Amino acid sequence: MHALAQELNRILEPTICYRALSDFGRRIYFPKGIVAQTAEANQNCTTFNATAGMAFKDGQPMALPSIAHYLNDLSGRESVAYAPTGGVAPLRSAWLQQIHGKNPGLGDTPVSMPVVTPGLTAGVAQAADLFVNAGDVIIMPDMFWGNYRLMFEERYGARIVTFRFFDDRFNLNLGALEQTLARHPGKAVILLNFPNNPTGYSPTLDEARALAELVTRYAEAGNQTVVVTDDAYFGLFYETGIYEESLFSVLAGAHENLLAVKVDGATKEDFVWGFRIGFVTFGARGVLPEQYAALEKKLAGSLRSVISSSTNLGQHILLKALQSPGYEAEKREFRAILEARYRKIKQILAERTTGTSLAELPFNSGYFMTFKCNSISAEQLRTLLLGQKVGTIAVGDDYLRLAYSAVDLEHLDEFMATIFEAADKLDMS
Ligand SMILES: Cc1ncc(COP(=O)(O)O)c(C=O)c1O
Repeated sequence: MHALAQELNRILEPTICYRALSDFGRRIYFPKGIVAQTAEANQNCTTFNATAGMAFKDGQPMALPSIAHYLNDLSGRESVAYAPTGGVAPLRSAWLQQIHGKNPGLGDTPVSMPVVTPGLTAGVAQAADLFVNAGDVIIMPDMFWGNYRLMFEERYGARIVTFRFFDDRFNLNLGALEQTLARHPGKAVILLNFPNNPTGYSPTLDEARALAELVTRYAEAGNQTVVVTDDAYFGLFYETGIYEESLFSVLAGAHENLLAVKVDGATKEDFVWGFRIGFVTFGARGVLPEQYAALEKKLAGSLRSVISSSTNLGQHILLKALQSPGYEAEKREFRAILEARYRKIKQILAERTTGTSLAELPFNSGYFMTFKCNSISAEQLRTLLLGQKVGTIAVGDDYLRLAYSAVDLEHLDEFMATIFEAADKLDMS
């Protein structure tokens, strides 16, 4: 094993961060190569700096005029230049501040600096790189974002073990999670995604508390526990009584055997789907600043080995937006647009007389809602709707997911009526 990896492992050894590492996670380190040497030179070398593989003229990165034309008031260093491997430092600090602002329950629990990844998909995959070996079990509810299967099973050779999302009374099925954990002693990687894709469900305050307690009990019993929270749809909460923070708030300082890995980002929260900006932040009780720094170095090494660095342009635009005086108000306005659609969907469902083979699962947040298709096939329904130029997603053959976030308020009546009519047609045939 490389000496730098051994050094990081030595720093991490007393903590869950080390105990949970995959084989790759143990091997990885941030090299003292081009990136580290360039960073060193950037501090000192005012005479000539011939380190990074970029082209400079008069001290500025060279940008073609036909590209610079679109960059407006961003400098070359903020746009065409490389970003640091772990992300633009002031953006990382600003995002950490955002995390604290949005998650007051986190209080002064020490956590790592957020590390930038090219989107949340890459954030979850980086967590898998560091903490999942081939053959490991990943525990998640049975309603999950389909890409997790491609990622964990096909890419990482891990095994997804699911528990039923809702119990018979349509509450979060914590009993099922507890039983699943009991069947997997030793080490568990748990993946939680709220507001959930595809259901649009977030836990109530009581459910969130109970969920955190039961995961903490599992860790207390001596099991090495990693909880990855995929907070892609964070902030879109439409009902009172919902837990409006990331579970990271309560898990980050819960127990010495529990490592919370927060994956979040600008993609959905800041309405920049194509920017490709995500963040990974670590939290575990008792972990010291130098140990967080060592884990951040491992993550940076992992990023360096596969994606090099994330978008510099996008990071600087996001940083400027976070610092802009209108930012919070603009986001509130956008959130209100989505909330109005949510309320309209609820009203349509409450008043409907057709489409009764479609039973909506509980939803209270996010972009989506999901119908359980009783007595009809979700895939047949999707195909029928496609013929009417209406796009929906079949999740297996039993569930139909609607991204009502993508349909204007004034079209929701027609949108839902078309779905109900198509369901009735299939139900009759
Ligand atoms: C739960 C969840 N996580 C992650 C993502 C992807 O995020 P990104 O586009 O930032 O990779 C999605 C997108 O659909 C999602 O639903």
